[in-house]
Amino acid sequence: MKRKTLTQFLIEQQREAGTLQPQLRLLIEVVARSCKAISHSISKGALGGVLGSLDSENVQGEVQKKLDVIANEMLLEANEWGGHLAAMASEEMETIHLVPNRYPQGEYLLLFDPIDGSSNIDVDLSVGTIFSVLRAPARVEGKDVVEDDFLQKGEFQVAAGYAVYGPQTILVLTLGAGVHEFTLDREIGSWVMTDTDMKIPAGKREFAINMSNARQWSPAVHRFIDDRVAGTQGVLGADYNMRWTGSMVADVHRILKRGGVFLYPRDVTKPGKVGKLRLMYEGNPMAMLMEQAGGAASDGEERIMTISPTALHQRVGLIMGDPAEVEALTSAYRN
Ligand code: AHG
Ligand code: MN
Ligand code: MN
Repeated sequence: MKRKTLTQFLIEQQREAGTLQPQLRLLIEVVARSCKAISHSISKGALGGVLGSLDSENVQGEVQKKLDVIANEMLLEANEWGGHLAAMASEEMETIHLVPNRYPQGEYLLLFDPIDGSSNIDVDLSVGTIFSVLRAPARVEGKDVVEDDFLQKGEFQVAAGYAVYGPQTILVLTLGAGVHEFTLDREIGSWVMTDTDMKIPAGKREFAINMSNARQWSPAVHRFIDDRVAGTQGVLGADYNMRWTGSMVADVHRILKRGGVFLYPRDVTKPGKVGKLRLMYEGNPMAMLMEQAGGAASDGEERIMTISPTALHQRVGLIMGDPAEVEALTSAYRN
């Protein structure tokens, strides 16, 4: 059976479901094309001069990898001329990036983590790109979009997705009506649909957490992990497996395909520092995908997608994946 391409899928969504406005369709196509270009750069590695770090730090206080900046530039350049966006925000940029006045302004805002899992780049392990789409405020002549216009709850996202650059290059996308997967066919340069209406398999006994942070965990997280490490000798009476890839996109993709739960809990030893991951372009897009795939995403106390953002780069504790596992931990937080 002939497989559908991303373009065909988007045109059908626009024509049949009526869920896809033309500017949003263009936005998704442009982001997908950028991810193809990013994948190409990554695969060159040392041969393409994309490895290693820069002397610069980003707003997160993290040393920037060359590819963080290269991928950020690719996404900015690809998206600013199309007339589908009013502004962009990125993990790699302190402030928002307005679409230059020489281009038409669109009705959407695009947020992205250009390379997620950057520490994996130089050691040839999977990395990803994460994106989130919000509606821009109604256009007021002479009034530019401001940072506050981005501070919308995750439930207001109109689309979210990621590309995972691993043995395959895969794009996973939701427009709010299910989660769909496209694999890059490098021979023809097309994204080809390889899974649709994806649902997180239930009951997989596998968790993803960085165990070296155990001293930072709350008692509830300690109990949650201890019970799973105890396996058949513990209260759960079953053995669990652990995976931690250092790239949330790769961990989330594994969970989407075979189940399990991802945790990057808040650091309770530093009250001001709630977590490592960023709400607007990591937590929210992944939470939309998880919920659309029948999963859950919480900061331990509330749904990620109901958190009212107060800052563009605010951080959040993150537990997401199998809804039964997320509930097992959030109920422990409540007790
Ligand atoms: P980024 O590379 O965009 O900063 O994101 C890395 C994140 C996430 O992808 C991953 O799950 C986590 O950081 C890994 O953190 P540790 O290195 O502390 O395990
Ligand atoms: Mn990231
Ligand atoms: Mn990043």
